[in-house]
Amino acid sequence: MAYLIKGVSILGAAPTDLFIKDGVIAAPFEGAEVVDAGGLVALPGLVDVHTHLREPGREDAETVETGSRAAALGGYTAVCAMANTSPVADTAGVVEQVWRLGREAGLVDVQPIGAVTVGLAGKQMAELGAMASSAANVRIFSDDGFCVADPKLMRRALEYVKAFDGVIAQHAEEPRLTEGAQMHEGEVSTRLGLTGWPAVAEEAIIARDVLLAEHVGSRLHVCHVSTAGSVEVLRQAKARGVRVTAEVTPHHLLLTDELAAGYDPVFKVNPPLRTRKDVEALRQALLDGVIDVVATDHAPHAVQDKECEWAHARPGMLGLETALPIVLSIYGPQWELIADRMSRAPARIAGLAGHGGDLTVGSPANLTLVDPSARRVVDPSELASRSRNTPYAGMTLPGRIVATFLRGEATVLDGKAVK
Ligand code: DOR
Ligand code: ZN
Repeated sequence: MAYLIKGVSILGAAPTDLFIKDGVIAAPFEGAEVVDAGGLVALPGLVDVHTHLREPGREDAETVETGSRAAALGGYTAVCAMANTSPVADTAGVVEQVWRLGREAGLVDVQPIGAVTVGLAGKQMAELGAMASSAANVRIFSDDGFCVADPKLMRRALEYVKAFDGVIAQHAEEPRLTEGAQMHEGEVSTRLGLTGWPAVAEEAIIARDVLLAEHVGSRLHVCHVSTAGSVEVLRQAKARGVRVTAEVTPHHLLLTDELAAGYDPVFKVNPPLRTRKDVEALRQALLDGVIDVVATDHAPHAVQDKECEWAHARPGMLGLETALPIVLSIYGPQWELIADRMSRAPARIAGLAGHGGDLTVGSPANLTLVDPSARRVVDPSELASRSRNTPYAGMTLPGRIVATFLRGEATVLDGKAVK
């Protein structure tokens, strides 16, 4: 299909016309389908480096298809699928399966992440090379959900991926310091009598890993940074030139540990929600570039795994369909910042050529159109995700994703998924 996106503002600039043909942004031509984009802002398609799609294994919570649809509706054109599926994505066979399911769904590019260790067990390195050279072309490896706690294994993994410029994405959680933890360790956990997850459990692993990455000369990516202290460790490492990148989630940019007081497990997440001071430091770090990207950590969970008592509930929250509105609610229409932290930088980290590019003639037509003046109440029953565990239910958020295009084909039009 060929489109004329009429009167659109590219990253907040004066309205213009954008032509799309043969999968790319094209020079003006006649006979295109007109999309009236007056008042809409065009952004390069968003890219998520941290999505849980749950397939294979927990198709009751999400599938590659339902998660892809949620992503497209959120303005995404590419997502990186985390490896903590069942079976774990620790072989060429499983990553190829996820990659193929993504292609079949055809709503976003699904780039599988491979596990670092067999079964995420932290004992034996997985077949990183086989996953890298598979059809899935894996470049990011992560045991997310678990920390690669063994420093020798972490060092070996960093050494191994250096050969093909791969990256190890670490879930930074010193397991001995978080045994039995239920929420952030601080005043609120003391008041509620819940076992705390201290900030230092994250900071100690990040400090160790930036030193390992520096020693090896390899690339480290830090998942879901959640504390002010982690920001300082990253700031220093980056100043020294360590090859480290970092992400923050929308929920860690917005919500605090006070929300645990109602014991509603929708607010249980790992790493846990932190304090107002941490939130402020994370917001500033994203502005400074100490934190490179916003990543959703979209973590769908079935009702029985979430609507139970706090201690037994699984950690994690939905994120794909609300990420851009949350970021807009915090930062306002800073379109350059949003395009960089939600599209360009994540595409660069994940090595996704074709995503995160400029919306100029000849570039792949991966983009999303946003109505910044619209406001929407988050209604869990309207989400495309198969799960319902959004912490934003009932909140009014700015910004409606009106359309998304993947290589020139609409995946979302008029705010609705095309298929
Ligand atoms: O809250 C979380 N949920 N944190 C993780 O690290 C894993 C994720 C999940 O898979 O549900
Ligand atoms: Zn994680």
